[in-house]
Amino acid sequence: MRGAGSLRIAVLASGRGSNLQAIIDAIEAGTLDATLALVLSNKSDAPALERARKHGAPAVFLDAKPFSTKSSDPKEKQAAREAYDRTVLDVLKQHDIGLVVLAGYMRIVTTVLINAYPNRIMNIHPSLLPSFPGLEVQQKALDWGVKVAGCTVHFVTEGVDEGPIILQAAVPVLDGDTAETLAARILVEEHKIYPRAIQFHAEGRLHVEGRRVRIDDR
Ligand code: GRF
Repeated sequence: MRGAGSLRIAVLASGRGSNLQAIIDAIEAGTLDATLALVLSNKSDAPALERARKHGAPAVFLDAKPFSTKSSDPKEKQAAREAYDRTVLDVLKQHDIGLVVLAGYMRIVTTVLINAYPNRIMNIHPSLLPSFPGLEVQQKALDWGVKVAGCTVHFVTEGVDEGPIILQAAVPVLDGDTAETLAARILVEEHKIYPRAIQFHAEGRLHVEGRRVRIDDR
């Protein structure tokens, strides 16, 4: 496996995995000093798993079905999510993971993982948080009429898309934009800032001070 940095990262992904690919490319180019020690997906056919295999990294599909509940009781739903995350945690421990990187991972992460990896779980979100948390955010940005959109890398805390912000990048919203063209412009920036944020962590330069993340100068 290429990428012999001492930081062992796990990427959790549910879909196409273009951010995973940007991370792999950065490792292979030597700009990200980390080892891709695991890619885990809740989707058996996630292209992200194939990208991991091509890089020579362990690729694990963890089926959520045995953990799902038909109940609409929020407590039972939460218990089901936590049970799944306990299994995820076992896999992370087996692979001696130091940083968990969510990249298009379509599950809510529970305190089971958050408490096991405090300030060591990152996520990327395709809006300038705190504007437009949640899903279909490029369309929401267009509907609101904002002139600037972008993406955010943040630490994961219990509130969805609420954790301390590590890096952001902005792009203009153009008159003719659709959700697709805007998403594509944002994605170019995602692929730059995610590997950079992980590299900052690898270098020990990120310091969480309340809501703010201070990045040491080099
Ligand atoms: C990205 O837009 C990311 O910001 C969001 O989900 C998408 C994942 O894309 N969280 P990919 O699977 O990395 O291509």
